[in-house]
This record gives sequence, structure tokens and C-alpha cells, in this order.
Amino acid sequence: MTSETDQIISSSEWVDTNRAVVDRNIFSSREIYEEELKQIFARAWNFMCHESQIPEPGSFFMNYIGEDQVVAVRDKQNQIHVLLNSCPHRGNTICRADDGKVRAFLCPYHGWNFDLDGSLKGMPGIKDFYRNDIDKSKWGMARAAQVDSYKGFVFATLDPDAPPLDEYLGWVGRLGIDMIAMRGEIEVVDGIQKNRLQCNWKLAADNVFDWYHPRISHGSALEIGVIPEEVLSPDQQMVMLGNYGHAISGPSLTVEQMAEIDQVFGGDNPPEIQNYLDYQVAYRAKQEVKEQMGQAGVRNMGHPHVFPNFWIATVGSQIGLRIPKGPQETELWWFTIVQRDMPKKARKSLLDLCTHMFGPAGLLEQDDGENWSHSTRGAIGEVVRRRPLNYSMGHGKDQVQTDDSGQSWIETVINEHGQRWLYESWQAWMKAESWEELMREHPSPPQEGAV
Ligand code: FES
Ligand SMILES: [Fe+2]
Repeated sequence: MTSETDQIISSSEWVDTNRAVVDRNIFSSREIYEEELKQIFARAWNFMCHESQIPEPGSFFMNYIGEDQVVAVRDKQNQIHVLLNSCPHRGNTICRADDGKVRAFLCPYHGWNFDLDGSLKGMPGIKDFYRNDIDKSKWGMARAAQVDSYKGFVFATLDPDAPPLDEYLGWVGRLGIDMIAMRGEIEVVDGIQKNRLQCNWKLAADNVFDWYHPRISHGSALEIGVIPEEVLSPDQQMVMLGNYGHAISGPSLTVEQMAEIDQVFGGDNPPEIQNYLDYQVAYRAKQEVKEQMGQAGVRNMGHPHVFPNFWIATVGSQIGLRIPKGPQETELWWFTIVQRDMPKKARKSLLDLCTHMFGPAGLLEQDDGENWSHSTRGAIGEVVRRRPLNYSMGHGKDQVQTDDSGQSWIETVINEHGQRWLYESWQAWMKAESWEELMREHPSPPQEGAV
């Protein structure tokens, strides 16, 4: 059994940008996965939580950076720290709750206790058993190298050499967050929906840009009218590519077209909740928002993705994390976001929409999850994984546009530019020995010409 597609990509290249193919081994290999934890997650800025989730001193939220469990916590001075949730004594997990409020952290194994900034306060038997011979200043909980936030979205990196968050996000990452942050005063609703799928995390990330599948995969959701086709699969698409693998891809719509969809979406609901989508799109008509988002940005209704695993679902009002749990397992987290001033009924409507869209009870994600698991399974067999996957849709067929604002974008039909960008950037992360090399060698988003 041989064919052109059987050619294995060279042993040092998993992604061939000329042929627009990707080696299936990257979705199943334990060796590549271990390398990702080191080269990508331990170096990137990772989303931790929204500031509304840790409003007061002592408020904390547990999250992960790759497979390292961390706690984002606000100290008495209101400063946010991100601490590795593992006791320096025997490595026990210190904080066992997903979120909450504490005065200090106490390790449940032998009782070492830590301040809100992670410093070691004390332990049982310091005088009698340790004979006062331990330097407490050296044995606190390890802290993330850098913690920062953009419009209330808190990120952390374990790498001291990572560039500042603002530079890391670049205009594409910032615009993606603006799409939700600029709706007004926002907060994350209590209760993060979490579920595990037997899939590689990248297949879940790649799907963020995939507007090819909805008519087929989500055919039943379309049929029962849960979501109109104009929203789920419009042909008019816009793609924006940013440094380090960030991208926004999906529908391109004017504010007027968005308003029409709002009417379709509102359906037969009573008037007070009919326009709940207003809360998702109406802010874009404001002058200051247009200026901040740019002329192209304000028409982009696509899915922003901040590399490596942070998705902003703009049609609803959710943010998703794809947390790696092994080469063939991923935990999906869904945060639901509301505006603080939403009328009660509109808020309830939005929560219903979010619950029924993504997450374990979401109609769409049940379809998606099944596909990602089977695609992962298709990367395991000894022979089948020698055949690379095709990512050629639209390759070399579209043009990049720019304007004075410095934004650049591609307007076209349904395509795979976002996915190709994800894997091309992923490969640069995997190869770079240091942040310095990554800053120098990462692919730059195309500014003009065919893409
Ligand atoms: S493992 Fe934490 S106190 Fe011993
Ligand atoms: Fe989907």
C-alpha cells in the first residue's frame, strides 16, 4: 500500500507547510507530548482565571499549566500570585479545592503552612524535630515567574525569559480578548464546566478555526433549529493571524448583519430576552469600540484562540481551555461570562444558550468531542499514522489585506488558514531552544500577497 500521501514527513519536521500536511504522530506520541509540556506549556503565557473569580484577598482559583497544577491567589495587598500547588516537603497537593477563600494554605500531610504569597510560614515541630535548623525563606511554594492580566484576564508563565504579556498577546490576542472584555463590566459565572475526552489537545484547539464541519457534524442541531445556519456556518469568512500562533477565524459580518441574525436568534422569545444577543454584538456599534477594535476587527465574529489552548467562544459568551492530560486525553473547561448589568431574564437566557452549546451538556460539543476522539484514534495505529493529514483548504488561494491601523487579515470563504498557522507556529515552539530563539525564529504573520 503506497501512495503519495504515504510519504512520511522528514524525521525533524512534523508539519510541512509547502505540502500543507501534518504528521499524525503529533496527536498520539508520548515522546512528542512530553516535549510539548516543556517547550510549549512551561514557556507560554497560560490563562489562569478572570479577576472577578478572585475578587478579595485570600480568593483563589485552581488551574493548570500543562500538567503542573497551580493556584492563582490574591494576597493581602491585592497582588495576584500563581503558586505551584505541590508541597516542598513531600510533594503533596496543598490546596484541594477548585476555588474558594482562605487566610493561608495548610498542607494536609504534615501541616506545613504557607502565606497567600506562597512563603513558608511554619510547620509543626520546627523547634522539637527540626531543632530550629531549617531556612524557611528557601522552602515556600514555587511561584510562577511572571503573572499579569489584560483587561481582567489573568495569565501566568513559568519562564522568566518570556516577553511581557502584552507583547506575547500582540494585537491579535488582545483583539480576541477585547471581543468579550469590551462588552461592558463582565464577570465569570460561578461553576466551571469540566469534562474529559479521549483526544489530543491540539485537535480540540484546531477545531476552533474549523467552520467546515458544522453543516455536517452539527446537522442535527441545525435541523432542530437550536442555532441558525447563518450563525453556525456562514460562507463569508475572515482570518487574522498573530505572532506565536494566535489567530482569529470565522464569520465576517457587519453590525447590521449581526443585528439581523439577532432577530433570527431571538425567535419567538418574549421581548425582554429576545435581544439577548444584543449583549454579544451591540457594543460593536459604539464609536470607542470601533476605534479600539479597528475597522476590520469590528467585523470579525470569528473564534479567537490564544496559543496554546485558550479559546474565546464569541457567539455565546464562554471561554474554553483545553488542558492536556496525556497524548490522548484532554480536559475541557468552560467558563461562562455575563455582563454585570444584564437584566435577570437576559442573563438566564444567555446561561441557557451557553449550557446548551458547549460543555458536557452542549449539543455542539457532544458532536465535536466524538470527532476529536476518533481523529485521535486515527493517529495511533502503526500503519495509519504513517499517513499525514491534509490541511490544504485555501492554501495559496487567498490574499492578505492591511490598513493604516496595522491590522492585517484575509477575507475569503471557508478555509484552513487558522489551522495551518497553528501547526506552523507549534513547530517553531517545539524547535526553539529558548525564548530568545523563539522570538527570533517564529513565523511572522504574512502582511501582504498570497497566503
Ligand atoms: S508533604 Fe506537605 S507537609 Fe509534608
Ligand atoms: Fe463544532
